Amino acid sequence: MTILHIDASINGENSASRAISGSIVEQLRGGAGDRLVYRDLAREPLAHLTLDSFADTSVLDEFMAADTVVIGAPMYNFTLPSQLKAWIDRILVAGTTFRYTADGPQGLAGGKRVIIALARGGIYDAGSPAAALEHLESYLRGVFNFIGIEPEFVAADGLAIGPEQRDSAIRQAIGDTLRLAA
Ligand SMILES: Cc1cc2nc3c(=O)[nH]c(=O)nc-3n(C[C@H](O)[C@H](O)[C@H](O)COP(=O)(O)O)c2cc1C
Repeated sequence: MTILHIDASINGENSASRAISGSIVEQLRGGAGDRLVYRDLAREPLAHLTLDSFADTSVLDEFMAADTVVIGAPMYNFTLPSQLKAWIDRILVAGTTFRYTADGPQGLAGGKRVIIALARGGIYDAGSPAAALEHLESYLRGVFNFIGIEPEFVAADGLAIGPEQRDSAIRQAIGDTLRLAA
């Protein structure tokens, strides 16, 4: 199995999404034949998309070669970091991960497992006052659905409320990753 592990947080060692995505990868790794590919989008950012960058398919090829993709996705300004958006811009490619048909768009990347570690400062549950500002989980679900994948999420929420809430939310999310090996 090839696991592609992506991180995007700017918070280095203090990052909640990095801690959770790392725990997910630990749960999934096991077989001697497993291959792990790691891409840190904060340390080595991809450039913004240009027409010329379509010629370089290395990021797309890396995604297509993975059986499982684990993504650390912090919420910045109600959505994903622009570093992660630059990666999405390279994997949504007509003719490879989706195509348009007479019946509408069709995802072509089905068969991969995608697990996303969300870290959010606030609370965005349905019905909460800030729910309409949730453009991270909803966006990533839409993007992966579009290419034929139903992503799984592990979330740590309310991290900006205070140190106790932060610790317990991260602990609970890391606990949630233990079931992923099943
Ligand atoms: C630049 C920046 C912008 C942020 N914007 C939001 C936001 O819009 N909504 C929110 O709930 N939390 C926001 N936060 C809080 C982060 O989601 C929270 O700190 C989370 O832990 C980030 O994940 P990380 O620790 O992996 O970087 C922001 C944090 C930073 C650094």
